[in-house]
Amino acid sequence: MSIQVNQVNKFYGDTQVLHDVTFKCEKGDTLVLLGPSGAGKSSLLRILNLLETAEDGNLNVADMSFDFSKGLTEKEGLLLRKKVGMVFQQYNLWPHMTVMENLIEAPVRVAGMSKASAKQEAIKILEMLQLADKTDAWPLQLSGGQQQRVAIARALMMKPDVLLFDEPTAALDPEITSQVVKVINDLSDTGITQVVVTHEVDFARKIASHVLYLEQGKVVENGTNEVFTKPTTQAFADYLTH
Ligand SMILES: Nc1ncnc2c1ncn2[C@@H]1O[C@H](COP(=O)(O)OP(=O)(O)OP(=O)(O)O)[C@@H](O)[C@H]1O
Ligand SMILES: [Mg+2]
Repeated sequence: MSIQVNQVNKFYGDTQVLHDVTFKCEKGDTLVLLGPSGAGKSSLLRILNLLETAEDGNLNVADMSFDFSKGLTEKEGLLLRKKVGMVFQQYNLWPHMTVMENLIEAPVRVAGMSKASAKQEAIKILEMLQLADKTDAWPLQLSGGQQQRVAIARALMMKPDVLLFDEPTAALDPEITSQVVKVINDLSDTGITQVVVTHEVDFARKIASHVLYLEQGKVVENGTNEVFTKPTTQAFADYLTH
């Protein structure tokens, strides 16, 4: 099992934003999180790599286990984030570093990899993402889709077991979105587990092996990508046709 979330409850102040959220994800799955704005998708995603904590419940991910009711240390979060990478909607590339420098920064400084082997690894990943000719480019010289692929490449440098995406195509036009679809589907063939938050149903259909649909912090629909054609709840059927 790659990810197991059990009875997670999360509050911001007095407001509960996740209610008894429970689901599982096998290695190699691509789980799409869908739901209306404010449903709790980003909060849930950020809990999966401990960028946020929860008040109670359990999380098992990348062979580590956490019991939120017992509290967490900063060190546990740092350790987990080496195994669970995140790609944001705003690519967050370092503008004063070339593509290559963006890629090797964390492996060299955080993971203690040698510069030579980090560069070798970076070239492999850039080739896979069809970015080999952009190695020495600056982020601002790249299109939005290229920047997003560099952000994915940078996350892959840490060889994560799990990769999280929050609205990875929100700022991209349809042609570039289809490049991101290809990257996610190619990655899933390599056995990496992916969790993707999106509100674009077409994009979701093309990448999802599994779907988790949330409303007001509660899991409403949870199934394989078959639920796109055969929703088991009226709420999800309505969401698909809205
Ligand atoms: N840092 C925060 N402090 C207080 N409330 C927050 C915070 N972050 C999110 N919330 C609230 O928690 C709820 C869930 O937010 P979240 O960002 O997880 O939703 P979402 O499903 O990702 O929505 P969207 O589709 O708009 O990105 C919302 O009601 C939001 O206002
Ligand atoms: Mg969000």
